[in-house]
Amino acid sequence: MRVLITGGAGFIGSHIVDACLAAGHEPFVVDNLSSGSRENVAAGVPLFEVDVCDQPRLVQVFDEVRPDAVCHQAAQMSVSRSVREPAFDAQVNIMGLIHVFDQAVRVGAKRIVFASSGGVLYGDVTEPAPENTPAAPISPYGISKWAGEKYLEFYTREHGIQGVALRYANVYGPRQNPHGEAGVVAIFSKKMLAGEPATVNGDGKYDRDYVFGPDVAKANLAALTAPLSVPFLALNVGTGIKSDVNVLADRVRAEVLKLNPAASVPVALHGPSRAGDLRSSVVDARLAGETLGWKPAVSLEAGLAQTVQWFAKRSG
Ligand SMILES: NC(=O)c1ccc[n+]([C@@H]2O[C@H](COP(=O)([O-])OP(=O)(O)OC[C@H]3O[C@@H](n4cnc5c(N)ncnc54)[C@H](O)[C@@H]3O)[C@@H](O)[C@H]2O)c1
Repeated sequence: MRVLITGGAGFIGSHIVDACLAAGHEPFVVDNLSSGSRENVAAGVPLFEVDVCDQPRLVQVFDEVRPDAVCHQAAQMSVSRSVREPAFDAQVNIMGLIHVFDQAVRVGAKRIVFASSGGVLYGDVTEPAPENTPAAPISPYGISKWAGEKYLEFYTREHGIQGVALRYANVYGPRQNPHGEAGVVAIFSKKMLAGEPATVNGDGKYDRDYVFGPDVAKANLAALTAPLSVPFLALNVGTGIKSDVNVLADRVRAEVLKLNPAASVPVALHGPSRAGDLRSSVVDARLAGETLGWKPAVSLEAGLAQTVQWFAKRSG
């Protein structure tokens, strides 16, 4: 199957490229390299350096690739930037998404998979939130993800294409960008490997559901290929297990010390709390198990070990 992956040079997208290759599919990447990089993309995979907002170039790429399925990961993904620049957020996350969906329909792709977000849709939840939890996005980023799901549902109704929106929990793993605001594991790994103190926001008692990037890629692969009994599905992708940021900082530090027992790694410091941070966010992913046969395979401990090892190789 020919799969066009937008954002395929980014963290999650590049793992989807790898999962497609491993399953014998033919991946193609569209990415403007704003946060992704060429080196994330497996050798031999065509990479079109194109912005999803550039409609004329997208037309050319879709004419050339003629994908059977489209996996839309490209996005403006900073919540704070979306608050500062809601028009830019909407330009990429709504207009760009519509351009991609239009092209998928035009060339006769059978299915679209879209990267949505559980955290920004469900808000503060202390128990694993199922998909029927009322969506209550409070940032322009959350609003654009919600709109993206609604557009996808519309395209399935109007054009007969199949659609799966995957609502990710907090994704971490190798290749995550440590310069962003959300990749706490990447940020901690990089700091601690450099022997610098990591900063935990506020008291660190912020519970999150951490799911490993390659597991999320497998959920995408299943969403691209599994038989569907309905044209549109929204599914959570997470572990249902909460860990707070203090625990995470301790575990990353332990992994760094395992790699280099002689290293001096300061314990994390506490900084000011960040306005608007949710206290608790966790998703119930049982429906993805029932409909796609997917469940997370990698424990937090094993995933953190692989992530720290990956960052260590890059820094060394
Ligand atoms: N990482 C998480 O925890 C998480 C959680 C929920 C949802 N998501 C969603 O998952 C998707 C992938 O996120 P990620 O963590 O891999 O981030 P990422 O920044 O590594 O990947 C995004 C990719 O999209 C590309 N891109 C951005 N704007 C583009 C544009 N206008 N045109 C073409 N390409 C563009 C970037 O260069 C990058 O390669 C995003 O849609 C994000 O909103 C991520």
